[in-house]
Amino acid sequence: MARASATQIDPSQILLTNGSLQGFVYLAQHFFWSGIGGRVLVEAPSYDRPLLILRNHGVEVTAVEMDDEGLDPTALERELKRGPKPAFLYTIPTFQNPSGRTLSVERRERIVELAQSYDLLVLEDDPYGFVRYEGKAPPTMFQIEGSIADKVAHTSSFSKTVSPGLRVGFIILPKPLLKPLELIASSTTISPSNLPAATVYEFARRGHFEPNLERMNGLLRARRDAMLEALERHFGSSASWSRPEGGYFNWLDLPTGVDAGELLVRATEAGVVYCKGTDFYPDGRGAGSLRLAYSYPSPEEIEQGISILAELAKSLSH
Ligand SMILES: Cc1ncc(COP(=O)(O)O)c(C=O)c1O
Repeated sequence: MARASATQIDPSQILLTNGSLQGFVYLAQHFFWSGIGGRVLVEAPSYDRPLLILRNHGVEVTAVEMDDEGLDPTALERELKRGPKPAFLYTIPTFQNPSGRTLSVERRERIVELAQSYDLLVLEDDPYGFVRYEGKAPPTMFQIEGSIADKVAHTSSFSKTVSPGLRVGFIILPKPLLKPLELIASSTTISPSNLPAATVYEFARRGHFEPNLERMNGLLRARRDAMLEALERHFGSSASWSRPEGGYFNWLDLPTGVDAGELLVRATEAGVVYCKGTDFYPDGRGAGSLRLAYSYPSPEEIEQGISILAELAKSLSH
């Protein structure tokens, strides 16, 4: 399901996991249990759970700048030159959590080049790649690296395409990492959960994967549209936000001077919740930003929620 042609992937390179996140955990454990150590590079902002996991391992985390086109390769190269050598780069190139941004094709190619020239391991976390409701899918970095496949590891799952409760995912690994990660996996869970994996297999074999994806992407598109329209209507030019072509999230930069933490207290009292921007940075940045998830609420609830949020933000901005 990694959108690489079957000939590019040796099945022995695929390790079944209980989700995309477990692929990340196995890789982190490989470096930090074995004492290999090193720091980890992440995007600024990045998914909060890996940040917490790294913090709990006591790992040094460096956040590398991104913009509307995703992770900035120039900032990445600067960081690689600065040293010390990172254990790996953790990146979510498509419909990023939390920003909803997608890395451009040119930048994907450049990052793969940097990985080759700086001997950088890249962990590409891609649970949202199929959750695309418009536009053309860029190749994954795993695909761009192609048959060499020694610098890019690709983790993904069926959580966003079939069901999160089944807990079925996979990580595709460069060959040298296979044995060590298999050992970590077997000493953690003995074997993958075969019944949920067989359920996903049967779901796809019976031809449900594509129609289900189409149905789900239609529902998500309506929610994304409701979110973008509500932001336009209620925040107008006072704030800025990302415009994803898929996934679950967009990122809101609040009107100048509004603190997302302070706003959250008031919003929660009014029945609106979100994740504040500071949760997604390892270094305290993000006070004026927040992550909006439009995947769960209905279009009507989104309209109502954004209207409340904009009113509260206005009251805090003067
Ligand atoms: C970027 C990213 N990676 C991993 C996960 C976890 O997914 P999974 O259920 O596949 O472990 C999520 C969110 O649920 C996510 O946003």
